[in-house]
Amino acid sequence: MHRALLDLSTHTIRLADETDFAGWRDAARRLALAGVQPEEVAWIVGSGGAGEHGPPQPPVGKSLTVPREFVDRAETIICHSDPERFSLLYRMLWRMRDEPSLLKIASDPEVRCSEAMEKSVRRDIHKMRAFVRFRKISEGEDERYIAWFEPDHFIVERNAPFFVRRFAGMRWSILTPCLCAHWDTGELTFAPGAEKRDAPADDAAEELWLTYYENIFNPARLKTNAMQKEMPKKYWRNLPEAPLIPALVAGAETASREMIAKMPTAPAPHHAKLQARHWPASASIQGDDGADAASIVELREAAKSCRRCPLWRDATQTVFGEGPDNPRVVFVGEQPGDQEDIAGKPFVGPAGKVFDAVLDEAQIDRRKTYVTNAVKHFKFEPRGKRRIHSKPNAGEIQACRWWLDKELALTKPDLIVALGATAAQALLGEAIPITRMRGQVVTRDDGLRVFLTIHPSFILRIREQGEKDAERTRFLQDMLAVKEFLAN
Ligand code: URA
Repeated sequence: MHRALLDLSTHTIRLADETDFAGWRDAARRLALAGVQPEEVAWIVGSGGAGEHGPPQPPVGKSLTVPREFVDRAETIICHSDPERFSLLYRMLWRMRDEPSLLKIASDPEVRCSEAMEKSVRRDIHKMRAFVRFRKISEGEDERYIAWFEPDHFIVERNAPFFVRRFAGMRWSILTPCLCAHWDTGELTFAPGAEKRDAPADDAAEELWLTYYENIFNPARLKTNAMQKEMPKKYWRNLPEAPLIPALVAGAETASREMIAKMPTAPAPHHAKLQARHWPASASIQGDDGADAASIVELREAAKSCRRCPLWRDATQTVFGEGPDNPRVVFVGEQPGDQEDIAGKPFVGPAGKVFDAVLDEAQIDRRKTYVTNAVKHFKFEPRGKRRIHSKPNAGEIQACRWWLDKELALTKPDLIVALGATAAQALLGEAIPITRMRGQVVTRDDGLRVFLTIHPSFILRIREQGEKDAERTRFLQDMLAVKEFLAN
């Protein structure tokens, strides 16, 4: 009897606002438990309206369990601008009662659609972090920084804590057409959307930024398609540096030829010191720093725009760690080499081949481990057409620890293997005599255990074959010790 009544009624669920995830989850759970079909439910947002049937009381004693992955995805999709998102999610929830592995069916149209929506929201979040530009205004005795941004989705509330963490000591406002976020160094508040003209046009600091941008623009590395993919034109109108871009792009070819003609064969010896002094680790102020990345995928995405030290300028790309999110062991090398820099993957060049072969012999499956480097950009000196590997200095290792620490915090391995002195220094914060301490396990203050060994490239550098073989055998023994450690 009760069931027949439900079949006839349309359930109109009113959510408090566009991103009312708690409201959606509660209603969806009740509806599903009461057996209300997706076609019987209409989802609307905002206050007002009468004559609606809210979610029914769920039958006593019944419960509903869905995979965590679905809840996480739904929480992100709620921020999408498509009004159909609430229905799509409920349809998926409904199906999941009989198909608990629904999310694993990659060919399913609803799963594909939800994946695309999730990706789109995440991308929008990333773009907001990368392209928000604050301008200073006076507010009585104080100053406030105002930014204008036009997101594709309802991401302001979700993204605001990132800006609070990043600019905790500044009073700032981010104005958008749908919602504005205000931070007064103690409280975060939200207000209805604004118009672009409510944000100031420029300020004194902007001139400095423009000069800086013109100077760091590297014509030799210009890839217009990639640049527009990362920085779509729609964002240009709100970027102060945008007006410079067409002229810089137009002159890139000539400038690039001039640069090659002028290129020094070796950097001035005082260069590294000057860079270290003028480029503190905090220099990464434009772009996402990955502080709240919830997975290696998000962290890797954030690291693409890393500017924590100057190495990004000459490298092709950030070479981030690779492997599952929950490995038992993390291997840490020094920095990507020439081939890694081009491939964008760690340990794929000559040292990587030795590493792979020895892991194979030790029967450690590399695909189940996480492999990364202490420094994520290739550092080299040009010599003719070749790029000669150059050791990262202490400042560069320190700057890149930001990413290494986060990789370790997310992967939480049982054991970290430091491949060589640079990795050991990055992991333990001090210079370690590897030849004396190899094979030992050092426990860090945070409880993570670090196994010390040589870097595989050390084997490659030995000329005398007998010595080379002996060193390779010792490295294999170290890897067998790692395997044994993990077995216990
Ligand atoms: N050497 C390293 O330390 N890492 C790599 O990725 C390649 C070579």
